[in-house]
Amino acid sequence: MRILVTGGAGYIGSHTCLELLEGGHEVFVLDNLCNSSVEAIKRVKELSGKSFEFFNCDIRDKSGLRAVFTKARPEAVIHFAGLKAVGESCEKPLEYYDNNLGGTVCLCEVMQEFGLKNIVFSSSATVYGRNEPPLSEDMPTGDCSNPYGRTKYMIEELLKDIYASDNSWNIILLRYFNPIGAHKSGRIGENPKGIPNNLMPYLSQVAVGKLAELSIFGDDYETPDGTCIRDYIHVVDLAKGHLCAINRLEQSKGLEVFNLGTGHGYSVLDIVKAFIGTTGVNLPYKITPRRAGDLAAVYSNSQKATELLGWSAQYGIERMCEDTWRWQSNNPTGYED
Ligand code: NAD
Ligand code: UD1
Repeated sequence: MRILVTGGAGYIGSHTCLELLEGGHEVFVLDNLCNSSVEAIKRVKELSGKSFEFFNCDIRDKSGLRAVFTKARPEAVIHFAGLKAVGESCEKPLEYYDNNLGGTVCLCEVMQEFGLKNIVFSSSATVYGRNEPPLSEDMPTGDCSNPYGRTKYMIEELLKDIYASDNSWNIILLRYFNPIGAHKSGRIGENPKGIPNNLMPYLSQVAVGKLAELSIFGDDYETPDGTCIRDYIHVVDLAKGHLCAINRLEQSKGLEVFNLGTGHGYSVLDIVKAFIGTTGVNLPYKITPRRAGDLAAVYSNSQKATELLGWSAQYGIERMCEDTWRWQSNNPTGYED
């Protein structure tokens, strides 16, 4: 299939492009590089041994999108492009609504103009809000604690409304849990700008000596060891989930929602111990007060993806730590070198 990948230079997008190319698909990447680097594109080409076209374009630029669609003639879109920092979304809500929501409206308008109605969208477990885990697709959504989460919820609703108005659209909403890890080559991985907010990039930057110490946000939650529990998923497993979603789009029509998680929860201390155990590196850490907005436990029921997409996560936390470390230690400054 000819697939346009918006946000394809980013963390999950670059890993997905590689899987799509290896799966025999034709890939076109569209990205404005606001949170990524062309180096990632170069490395995906290197790893796959295949060439593909990259369009430096913003999803809010309608005429730019029209030119890309005319040239690439995509048969499906995987839509990753968006801003994703929770804290920043509280400081700059308008940027998040404009980029994520406005950008998706613009993209869907151009898709409609071109008669292209196949889309896979990157949603997030954050749409489940305070539901009790394990979280499954039929639970109520929308009780999000920040503007970023609300843009994900609103885009899901927008896509549901598009489908309700015209059921010749094929739409798959993928709700990701916590992606970590990197490609086994150590050539592509997560490359956050500035000081990371998320656990794994922060931890790996401590391990490589860029940051002094990891703060574990709270050890007084109602969990077995007192630290928060999350459903960490290897980014390559996540990328493979997109390949399964594309296969599903080809076979079945409609709007469907799938969780992509492992179904297992690990605590912050489990991750710290697994990282030290698999890499043998020193990892200074301390317990600090809770971070506002964090939930004690978030993990998936991912049975639906197993049953209908034929997908399930293969890699455990040791492998996630090992691959993160290979990427971080081989590229201490990310793609900047
Ligand atoms: P990322 O920031 O690495 O990738 C997003 C890409 O989109 C970047 O390359 C960025 O330059 C690009 N982009 C942003 N705004 C754009 C615009 N207006 N036009 C064109 N390109 C634009 O993030 P990621 O971790 O790869 O996440 C990909 C998607 O998955 C995002 O939509 C994110 O919200 C969603 N998601 C991520 C996580 C996570 O933990 N990483 C969890 C759940 C959902
Ligand atoms: C966060 C976002 C979520 C987003 C996801 C992926 C919040 C409240 N939620 O999820 O919307 O989809 O990132 O981008 O921000 N932790 C530490 N020390 C650190 C960093 C994190 O102890 O330095 C802990 C956190 O308290 C949490 C766990 O590690 O319990 C995972 O944190 P993080 O990686 O930020 O992901 P989430 O909070 O699950």
